Parts: sequence; C-alpha cells; structure tokens
Amino acid sequence: MAKNQQSLEREVKLLRKQVNTLNERVRDRFDFLLDELKEIGYRNKFSLERNESNVVSMVSAIVPKKNLSDLVLPFDVESQVIMALKQINNYSKLVKGYGLKKILKTNTIALNFIGLPGTGKTLTAEVVAKHLGKKLYVVRYSDLVDSYVGETSKNIVKVFNYARENSAVLFFDEADAIASTRTNVMNATDSENNLVRNVLLKELENFNGVVIFATNLAENFDKAFERRIHMHILFKMPEAPDRERLWKTLCKGLKVHKDVNFKELSHRYSFSGGNVRNAILNAARVALNSNKKSLTMEDFVKGCDLVEKGSLSMTSSGVNKELRYIG
Ligand SMILES: Nc1ncnc2c1ncn2[C@@H]1O[C@H](COP(=O)(O)OP(=O)(O)OP(=O)(O)O)[C@@H](O)[C@H]1O
Ligand SMILES: [Mg+2]
Repeated sequence: MAKNQQSLEREVKLLRKQVNTLNERVRDRFDFLLDELKEIGYRNKFSLERNESNVVSMVSAIVPKKNLSDLVLPFDVESQVIMALKQINNYSKLVKGYGLKKILKTNTIALNFIGLPGTGKTLTAEVVAKHLGKKLYVVRYSDLVDSYVGETSKNIVKVFNYARENSAVLFFDEADAIASTRTNVMNATDSENNLVRNVLLKELENFNGVVIFATNLAENFDKAFERRIHMHILFKMPEAPDRERLWKTLCKGLKVHKDVNFKELSHRYSFSGGNVRNAILNAARVALNSNKKSLTMEDFVKGCDLVEKGSLSMTSSGVNKELRYIG
C-alpha cells in the first residue's frame, strides 16, 4: 500500500509538471488524467493533492456527479444558471477575443447564490463544477474562523491557494458573514472582520477561476463584495408544478407504489427541494418499519408530516426571513 502510494505520488508529480508546461487550452484536456489518479488516491484513502498543513480539514473536496438534468428549478432561475454557465464558457473568448484583458483586473468569475435552505444552492454549485470538469471545494466560512487574531485571514489565503493549485471550483457556504456590509470599526472584532473581508476581496481578484458564494439573506451586501460578483442568482422556493417535478426527479429509480400521487403531495406540502428529499428519506424509514416492498402514499404523507413538524418549529424561531433579490 505504502509503495503503491509512493509510486502514485511520483506519477502525479511528474504528470503535474508536464501538464503545467502545456498551454491552457491543451492543459484542460489533460486535467482529467490528474483527476483520475487523484481518484485512485481517494479510493485508497490517501490524498495525492498538495496538503498545506491544516487546509484539508477546512475543505470538503467533492468529485461532482450531478448534471443540469438532476436540478429542478423554476424556469427563470434555471435560465440564470444556464446564463452563468455560458458566461463562464465564453469568458476567455470575451477577454482574448475583444482584448478586454487590458481593462479587466481579474480572471475570476464570482457567483452568489442567494436562497433559503434546501433550495438547491449546493447542488447547483456541484452542477457548475461538473460542467467545467473540475472538482468542487466546499468551504464553510465558520470553519475558517479562528479565535487568534489574524489566523482567519491566513486560512482564507490557504484555501484560495489550495483551490488554485488543484484547479477546483471554490464554494463558500454560509457566506453571509463575509458578504455583509463592512462595519465601522468599534472594537478589535470589527477590525478583524474588516481585515478578513479585505483579504477575501484581494484573493478573489487573484484567483483566476470560479468562486461561488452561498448566502441565505441578501441584505446589506458589502458594496466592494457586490462589485466583484458577476451574477447574483436568487434561488426561489418552488411553486406546486416545480414541486411535482422535484418529487418525480428525486423519486426516479425508487420503488414507489402505484397509489402515490405526486401532484397531490406537491399541492399539500409547500416544500423546498431539501424538504422533499428529507420527506422521501422519512417515507422510506416508515415503509421499512412495516417491511413494505415499495413506498406507498401513506408512507409519503407520514414522511411529509414529520418534515413539516420539524420545519414548523424552524419557522417559528424566525429562520425563514424574507429575501431581497439583488442583480
Ligand atoms: N432545486 C433542486 N433540484 C433538485 N434537487 C434539489 C433541489 N433543491 C434541493 N434538492 C435536494 O435537496 C438536497 C439539499 O439541497 P442543497 O444542499 O443543494 O440546498 P441548499 O440551498 O444548499 O441548502 P442550505 O442553504 O441548507 O445549504 C439536494 O442534495 C437535493 O437532493
Ligand atoms: Mg448548501
């Protein structure tokens, strides 16, 4: 195993050196070879990527598997996601073709996904990464926060370097804290927060890749942050027809009894995609309890009721605030 690992590491190093000498367009075609070798590493439970001290613990590396066909979004949201993909595809053409390089400071494309929990922000980030043939590095902002002064900014730099070196799409989850207005400095925490945001903005400029932020509340965006975002996409809660599509998409391939009426479920429960997913999991647990061969309407209704109880308690604690759409 150790020998195996060493030889793989050597191979990856060599290949990486060679790939780095190729020009950008050709390099894209060879990147998959590196990914395949890294995959072998993951399967054998060791990482073949450069491991910068504690950076790995702050990043969840995902090999994206989901396509646009796995996403169910209201028509206008889907159109914006498709537009974002086109923008990313056309970016280098735009820059090189029209000589915009001179007036553009950065090659980074930054997107901001705004929306309530379970509306598909993380899933869409996965779809974007898959579309680009890149890995998705998910970072929760709270995992970067360090109580020692100056350490949070250092963590941000580390994460950006790590994603740049491994040519990954960087996804900042729960990014409200970084995206919100810079405070007037009142105390040490405020000045630390401002420092962190300044470092983030600088890293964003120098990244040369795709960075996606996910925020729940679109209020008080920091103007400097907003200027660096190419597109803000609001992930709305689905209406009944989209909910029906969500049920059907997420239940594809499952053993569903013929008495199940997805239209009825979609009218009865105003669920997000995340809620639908949880209701399906609950339904399966309920069915398993009575050893059923397939999931019946009764199981789904019970599954939905369980979700509803959970989310009602969340609503009453004020989690579901109104969103404002920017952009
Ligand atoms: N628009 C959608 N289309 C298809 N499936 C969805 C959609 N939204 C949610 N889901 C299902 O719910 C799961 C959770 O959704 P996801 O993690 O993308 O939500 P989120 O917006 O990132 O939520 P949070 O704000 O809590 O992080 C997905 O893995 C998927 O199974
Ligand atoms: Mg998410």
